[in-house]
Amino acid sequence: MKIVRQKSDLRALTRKWRAEGASIGVVPTMGALHEGHLSLVTAASARADRVIVTLFVNPTQFNNAEDLEKYPRTEDSDAEQLAPFDVDVLYIPDVDQIYPQGFATAITVSGLTDRLCGATRPGHFDGVATVVTKLLLQTDADLAFFGEKDFQQLQVVRRLVTDLDIATEIIGCPTVRETDGLAMSSRNLRLGPAARRNAPAMRAALAEAADGIASGEAPGPALDTVRQRLTAAGFGPIDYLEFCREDDLQPITEPGGSGRILVAAWLDGVRLIDNVIAAPSGT
Ligand code: PAF
Repeated sequence: MKIVRQKSDLRALTRKWRAEGASIGVVPTMGALHEGHLSLVTAASARADRVIVTLFVNPTQFNNAEDLEKYPRTEDSDAEQLAPFDVDVLYIPDVDQIYPQGFATAITVSGLTDRLCGATRPGHFDGVATVVTKLLLQTDADLAFFGEKDFQQLQVVRRLVTDLDIATEIIGCPTVRETDGLAMSSRNLRLGPAARRNAPAMRAALAEAADGIASGEAPGPALDTVRQRLTAAGFGPIDYLEFCREDDLQPITEPGGSGRILVAAWLDGVRLIDNVIAAPSGT
């Protein structure tokens, strides 16, 4: 695995691979890699001839300076974790490789980003959409792999590649979970021991609501039960808890609809997100 920091060096490699007829897969990350990221790398190496993992802590998607400051930088251990995998390049651009002097362009995906995480993290998805666009262009990827845990992000990326005619296929990969059901996230390490024990209640409550919806329960009462379960487990505040259509993330309020239940809630000062598919059985 080669570590590349300059976009010109990356371009030289991707041109060579293209000339050889190789396909290129990319796994965009901000580092602090865990098994969730590694599952994306495995999926990428199964589908593409060449694999690039990008590691860039993107300043424009953070809402506050403290969060950006606190974000773990674990470049050496990230590289070590990737060593056993079939990765050709770990691309770690410096900020000026992504945002050159005078940078004045932003990608905004409207509609999809107004709600859910977009409502409580203003500007976050503009930052994500802009950096992902740049990473897809810089890596010249045929395929790009994103986790379903950040389901809104996945849908935003799908929308932008369609709208901008970017020829990268976006592959959503299932959320990887701890054995107790908690969705893997670098934030889990910030939970204290008691909160860590209670955190799987989020996934358990979502699964219970999905079962309710499968057996014909209306979304309102199903979500009320999730809210009670979360509160009982010490979560609060709940930023959002909604049952939404997958394509446009608009809320489903009537029984009989299929979509995802998405949640963001705080536990022990840590914001956790998760989502599950929910549909009436037989659909
Ligand atoms: O999901 C992430 O880690 C980031 O939002 C991404 C897609 C790498 C863009 O910075």
